[in-house]
Amino acid sequence: MAEISFAILTISDRSYAQLRPDLSGPALVKEISEFGGKIIETRIVPDEITQISETLIYWSDVLGVNVILTTGGTGFAPRDVTPEATIAILDKQAPGIIQAILESSLKITPHAMLSRPMAGIRKKSLIVNFPGNPKAAVENFRVIKFVLPHAIDLIHDLPDAESGHAHTNHHSG
Ligand code: MTE
Repeated sequence: MAEISFAILTISDRSYAQLRPDLSGPALVKEISEFGGKIIETRIVPDEITQISETLIYWSDVLGVNVILTTGGTGFAPRDVTPEATIAILDKQAPGIIQAILESSLKITPHAMLSRPMAGIRKKSLIVNFPGNPKAAVENFRVIKFVLPHAIDLIHDLPDAESGHAHTNHHSG
């Protein structure tokens, strides 16, 4: 896999209304640039299912972005609807990514219990929800970044460079 492309969606009523600066989006951009990823687009939307889902669909179906990260709206507040907007448009879920994120976050703060992230695949894009706190978003990215090249290869059904196995859809017997 060559350069991995990313898009970052900040989900926050207050940042969308310019009542609070978006800190987590830029924090993820910095982290991804250091990782060597290519940022295709960043956007801020309010905590509205339709606007969240439509952005994820556009980035996946039209732009074909490899990795779509969201930040914010995963909590317990009435307006927190990011996981619902995400699961509505996923083709497949990726519970292992969620488990890795929550396990590592719980070692940092018990408040990780209050995040309800979703992760999964739509078309050729991997989509992962992070919390809104910039520190939390960066912590979560650091957990998953190592598996991203292999994840993207698998989504594209490319031969596995590490094991030499080709991943195909053919099953014998
Ligand atoms: N995960 C990590 N790694 N570090 C954190 O500081 N904060 C938690 C949690 N996950 C946190 C974390 C807190 S306080 C909340 S309320 C939830 O994420 C949900 O955040 P969100 O509603 O902004 O998505």
